[in-house]
Amino acid sequence: MRIAPDLRGLARIGRTLSSKVSGDSDQKKGEADPIQQAVERGLAAASGYSEEEAESEGPVEEVIAAGFSAQNSFGQICATCHGSGGEGDGAAGAALDPAPASFIDPAFWQDRDRDRIITVIRDGAAAVGGSALMAPWGALYTDDQLEQMADYVMSFRPN
Ligand code: HEC
Repeated sequence: MRIAPDLRGLARIGRTLSSKVSGDSDQKKGEADPIQQAVERGLAAASGYSEEEAESEGPVEEVIAAGFSAQNSFGQICATCHGSGGEGDGAAGAALDPAPASFIDPAFWQDRDRDRIITVIRDGAAAVGGSALMAPWGALYTDDQLEQMADYVMSFRPN
């Protein structure tokens, strides 16, 4: 069955993306990277695999190409911090400050539209003045997939 290797691959994607982010900062060598830890913890918890098992090889591209659906991708990646119901209560997000956004909070939507959501998913929240803890995920998605991810996030919007 394909599920286990895919999740191991995702853990590696998480590491790749988070190390890209931290590489831009002036973080001291050897210091624990909270984003990387959060992503790894979340993905390991989601997959049921330990860190050692998550190291095993498997082409990342294969994981990316394997059938896309916004719901699955959200569930496997975003939900680790944002929660599968979009409430901002994912296990990997619990220790983050600022906390992951809750997409079911009407106040969240007061000053946000689809374009902003697309920008944030592609370029990270830092691109709109937010926290680098919301990493850029654009490398994972085609333009069309990005729009589907944004629409999925918007589907949590109350009314
Ligand atoms: C490692 C934890 C983590 C993961 C994984 C994560 N996010 Fe976030 N996200 C955050 C945090 C923290 C914030 C709050 C940033 C802020 O307040 O500046 C956030 C904010 C956001 C926002 C709102 C940004 C704004 O200010 O308009 C959106 C939209 C979002 N995330 C979507 C996603 C999507 C889609 C995914 C999956 C592709 C994802 N996030 C994965 C932690 C995460």
